[in-house]
Formats: sequence, C-alpha cells, structure tokens
Amino acid sequence: MKLTPTVPTGCNGIGNQPPRATGFQSAWSLVLLTIFFATGCGATPPAWFRPNMVKATKEKLSAQREQQVATIMLAMFGTPDDPVALPETGLDEAKLRLAAGPVRSNIVGRKNGLYREHCAHCHGITGDALGPTAAFLNPYPRDYRPGVFKFKSTERADKPTHSDLVRLLKNGAPGTSMPSFALLSETQIEALVEYVKYLSIRGETEFNLMGAFFELEGEEDELPLGRDFLVGEMLTPVTEKWAAAAGARIPVPEMPADLDLVASVAKGRALFYGDKANCVKCHGPTALGDGQANDFDDWNKPIVEWKKEIAGEKDSKFLARAHRVLDGDALKPRTIQPRNLRLGIYRGGRRPLDLYYRIHAGVNGAPMPAAKGTIPPEDIWDIVNYVRSLPYELDGELGADRPMVARDRF
Ligand code: HEC
Ligand code: HEC
Repeated sequence: MKLTPTVPTGCNGIGNQPPRATGFQSAWSLVLLTIFFATGCGATPPAWFRPNMVKATKEKLSAQREQQVATIMLAMFGTPDDPVALPETGLDEAKLRLAAGPVRSNIVGRKNGLYREHCAHCHGITGDALGPTAAFLNPYPRDYRPGVFKFKSTERADKPTHSDLVRLLKNGAPGTSMPSFALLSETQIEALVEYVKYLSIRGETEFNLMGAFFELEGEEDELPLGRDFLVGEMLTPVTEKWAAAAGARIPVPEMPADLDLVASVAKGRALFYGDKANCVKCHGPTALGDGQANDFDDWNKPIVEWKKEIAGEKDSKFLARAHRVLDGDALKPRTIQPRNLRLGIYRGGRRPLDLYYRIHAGVNGAPMPAAKGTIPPEDIWDIVNYVRSLPYELDGELGADRPMVARDRF
C-alpha cells in the first residue's frame, strides 16, 4: 500500500520540504496517519519538518532513502501543525498542541502556537536552530535534534530534568540572546518544555533511523520497518534517556555551615591554577577566558571536518549537494570561547549550586571538562567559591605568583 500525502507544489515554507510519497510498508503507521492538505497556494502553506540534511548528505544517504526517513518520521511524529505523540514517548499531546502550529486563539485568554510565537524565529520550526534570526546571533541558538543540553543538574551525558528546562525558560541564558520567558504562565512554560522534548526526541530518532540506513550494505537491503524496530530500536533508546533524567541528578554535598570562606577561596584558587583541575588552561591566567581559542561545540566539529573533506571530493553530484547544505542548511561554525569569569555572568545560572553542577559535570557538548573524578566533591565547593570571588578579586591581590590583571581588560 502506498502512502501518498497530497501536498501543494511550489508553495512550501522555506526549507521545510514535504516528504514525497514512497512505498512505506508498515500498516501501524498508516493508522496514525491522517493528513489533510489543501492543494494550491493558500495564505499560510503547511509547515514541514525539515529533514536533517547535514547528517543525510554528509553520510551520503540516497534521495530515495531520505524520503523513506521523512515518511516514517511523518508517521511517527506528525507535522509541526499536527504533532503526534506515541505513548512510548511519554509526552503529553495536549501540552504539545498548545505549543504547536501557527499562532492562533479561539478561546479568550488561551493561545496556541506558543513555540512559533516565542521560539521558532531563533530555534527554527524543526528545532534545527535555523530560524531566520539565528545567523545573526553568537552563540547560535541551540539545535535540539542532537539531544545535547548544556545547563542542567544531571551528569554530563544525561538529559536535563523537566525542572531544568522549566528553570532555563524562566531565567533564559544570561550573556546570550536566549531570553527569559518568566512572564509566561506555568501552563505555557510546561507546554513549551514538552514541545522542546518532542522536537529533541524527534530529532534523535531521525538520527538513529538515518544511522540504521547508513549501515545497510546495498541499495536493495531493507530495514525491518515494523513497530518493533521503529519504536523498540529507534525511539525507545531516546525516550529511556529522557525518562532516566529525573533519577540522574548530581549528588551535591552540603557546603559546610562553618566554612572559612577566605581559606576556601584560597584553596579554590590553588586548584584553579593547579595541574589537576587546570582551569587556567582554558580560562587563562587572568580568568578572562583567553586561555584557549579555536575549539568548537561537538555539533560543529563534523561541519568543520566536512568542509575540509570536500576539498578532495571528486563526485560532482555529491559536491553540489554538500555545498547546498553547507551554504544553506548549516550555519558557519563559530568557535566556543571559554567563559570570561571576571564578569560574574553565567549562562547556566549564577546560584552557587548552578556553578557546582557546571564544574562537577562540565558543559555537555562543549570543551569544558568535568571535574568529577579528578577533584573530590567537597573541593568543588572551594572552586565554586573562588570562581564567585573572581569578579571582585583586585589586581594581584591574592599573590604575586600570577601576572597582574590590568583593570582595563575587564
Ligand atoms: C533570540 C533568540 C532566542 C529565542 C527567541 C529563544 N532562544 Fe532558546 N536559545 C537561544 C540561544 C542563543 C541559545 C544557546 C545558548 C548557549 O548555547 O549558551 C538557546 C538555548 C536554548 C536551549 C538549550 C539550553 C541548554 O541547556 O543547553 C533551550 C532548551 C532553549 N533555548 C529553549 C527555548 C525555547 C523553548 C524558546 C521559546 C520559548 C527559546 N529558547 C527562545 C536563543 C533563543
Ligand atoms: C578545556 C577547556 C576548559 C577547561 C579545562 C575548563 N573550562 Fe570552564 N569553560 C570552557 C568553555 C569552552 C566554556 C563555555 C561553555 C559553554 O558556554 O558552552 C566554559 C565555561 C565555564 C563556566 C561558565 C558556566 C556558565 O554557566 O556560564 C564556568 C563557571 C567555568 N567554565 C569554570 C571552570 C572551572 C572552575 C574550571 C576548572 C575546574 C574550568 N572551567 C575548566 C572551557 C574550559
């Protein structure tokens, strides 16, 4: 049986190409899939999830398989206007509906389309960080599809907890263009958090599925595209990680009530400049963040590499596709600077606890390493105390062994 959504031609949202029809064999997905598309160019063309072209093109997924992935994704997750949450995702479809679709309101005091109203111009409809504003920002907005989050209370590789995301939306990421949404209601924030999870789960499932296709030997080989495979092997490993986040909180020892702050700051400083923690390596001898340059976030590294690789590429068809992606579907990678610690502005929050989490687990996706395993948990508090004192530390105050910090540098 053929899956043949009727799509309007020539009037799609920019870059959000609809998947074309393919012979997708799985009956269960057809039950889920009821699509009504108006034909012709109406005022608002339906929105589509843009396929992950960087992954698809870099690893050379054929156009036919790319369509297969898009069709399966459509069946499993619906469209930006009409999201589907399979029970295995653990997502609340009612919350998703509040966040999804175009901005509209048919009940007084209630508005739908929150994601498109507040987030899509930066994070993109697909959560691919390719919204129209994105290219102007530094750092770029986050691409949710790799499922990597930086500012959270869980161990480095774990997902953020629900309350981490709520907190992020309320506070924003200070020092970046990610704004605070503290003025939205709890219900609206809940809906947006659910929608971020949905886009991220969708994005990682798409990664997995493309990965499975890459592993096939020949063009004729097929994947077992039934429910067991798609849900059991592609989706569940992702949703399990989200479900585990609540139990993966970093254990934090109490800061001793009778702590000698001066001694703690001095100890923290020794660790900061010492070989074990070696914060100085990246944050620099002045802690202005000038110790290390030219490193990238994890998701930018493949693009940097890919740019080098295609210099030697012979296949002209592939080259044309790669350039189309690199010039249109991927933003020019920017280096990630170690933070200037003299400013007292922290993207992940400025509570001592936030700094504890950041130093214990490092920053997932970024070069900032975890102190966990190298520095005993109690000593991390000393580093936190030293970091918190840095904006107030006077020139050379704490010792002559370090170059003077010129005031006009910060
Ligand atoms: C003006 C642009 C802009 C808007 C609007 C915006 N963001 Fe962001 N967002 C960013 C930037 C930039 C970052 C990356 C910050 C960083 O990497 O340090 C980010 C990061 C994030 C992250 C990742 C945080 C982490 O821990 O790694 C999430 C989640 C997020 N935004 C959700 C949202 C949601 C939901 C909305 C809408 C309610 C939204 N953002 C609106 C710019 C924006
Ligand atoms: C390998 C390089 C590297 C080392 C070593 C390093 N950092 Fe970082 N650090 C970074 C980078 C890069 C960032 C920016 C991360 C981001 O925004 O994604 C950062 C960010 C931070 C932040 C800001 C967190 C926020 O919420 O904005 C703090 C605080 C910090 N580092 C403290 C430390 C301390 C303390 C040490 C030593 C225990 C350390 N760093 C070691 C590279 C490093």
